[in-house]
Amino acid sequence: MSISQQAFLRDAMRRLNLTRDLFAARIGVKRRALDTWLLPEGSQEFRTMPEVVERFVGEIVQNSDLLEKYTQSAQPGPLRDRIAWRGKHQLISVDQFTRESAEDLFRVADMMQPIARRRKVSRVLEGAVLGNLFFEASTRTRVSFGSAFCRLGGSVCDTTGFTFSSMAKGESIYDTSRVMSGYVDALVVRHPEKGSVAEFAAATNIPVVNAGDGPGEHPSQALLDLYTILTEFSRLGKLLDGAHVAMVGDLKYGRTVHSLIKLLSLYKGIKFSLVAPRGLEMPEAVIEQAARNGNVIEQKSSLAEGLSGADVIYATRVQKERFIGEDAESAYTPDFQVSKATINAYCSPDTIVMHPLPRDSREGANDLSTDLNDDSRLAIFRQTDNGIPIRMAIFAVLLGVEDLVQHSMRDVTWRHPSHVGPDDSSFHGLD
Ligand code: ASP
Ligand code: CP
Repeated sequence: MSISQQAFLRDAMRRLNLTRDLFAARIGVKRRALDTWLLPEGSQEFRTMPEVVERFVGEIVQNSDLLEKYTQSAQPGPLRDRIAWRGKHQLISVDQFTRESAEDLFRVADMMQPIARRRKVSRVLEGAVLGNLFFEASTRTRVSFGSAFCRLGGSVCDTTGFTFSSMAKGESIYDTSRVMSGYVDALVVRHPEKGSVAEFAAATNIPVVNAGDGPGEHPSQALLDLYTILTEFSRLGKLLDGAHVAMVGDLKYGRTVHSLIKLLSLYKGIKFSLVAPRGLEMPEAVIEQAARNGNVIEQKSSLAEGLSGADVIYATRVQKERFIGEDAESAYTPDFQVSKATINAYCSPDTIVMHPLPRDSREGANDLSTDLNDDSRLAIFRQTDNGIPIRMAIFAVLLGVEDLVQHSMRDVTWRHPSHVGPDDSSFHGLD
């Protein structure tokens, strides 16, 4: 098999749109057996899937009516051409994706998992240089894009803040982008103005990835969020079609929720509950776009109304740095804080709690509470860990090397703990 059995099985379940239980029943095996085939190879309980099962699954996927429907809408050709932005291999908005192309990217991310989990290494991007241009604060996005590029064998040049860039001397986006393109093979850009990363992209032919453009979009975050939801739902035996997703917090300036709601709306029958303090509601244009696919979007004014029965709670930080005249302190009262008490009151044991991070943990911030840290429903660190395989997949696809990755893998030479966080749940990192 050219891909790992875990990636093969996960892809089959996604294509057939079946939960693990239904998939196990469909191929006539016990759910427990399926679980052991999906475990990482290093795990004690991992088992190799029998060849006959592999052939059978392959046949079902090939013959499925669903797959036919699925491939009819997809255009042929390499993924990077199907998701191209104005004909270029760049990632500026989630609008570039269909459900099929997003799931094709997740197939590449699944393939990256052994590298992301430090079991394998690859040098498939050896010699390539990434330019990381961050004109706004960042921990996750900057470091995980850099780490993803390095883990594929490339190297990274970083610029952070305006102060240390010649933009402080009045250099334009056009000139900066063109100059950088002569030095590096791909650019990741974060900038405080909406539309600015698209300007960088228009001024070059090398791959550019939007790492956040003001209150606009954060497409790689939304992709890793969707990947996390699908992975968590697979473990919990749920399907995303028909799920209830609650988004809480600053939905006006939060670019992660703008990208995420649009991406999630590619699925069917989703109920969105939007809970925002007055004045920080989701922009109408984003709501209109997300509602196009027939999904239900309800605006609620309290957590009690919005969180009841939610499968996913996506909390966000108040984007004070973007406020123009709004009263940041009074808008976001303690009533909007997602905590253990709120989850216990309104949600079930299989609700997952997400946040793009950073959460503001300072006193009086009312952001996602730290009292959930030892609660396995808190998926925030599984979410951040997923940033690596997703960003590796983005680079591999944009640079056209995804078909070379599998054969380029070698075993790592060092040992890495299976659970990096002291509070990680037993299933953290496992599928
Ligand atoms: N880190 C995310 C972003 O840059 C969310 C946040 O900062 O609140 O959009
Ligand atoms: N989620 C996110 O974008 O985090 P950073 O702002 O730390 O990059």
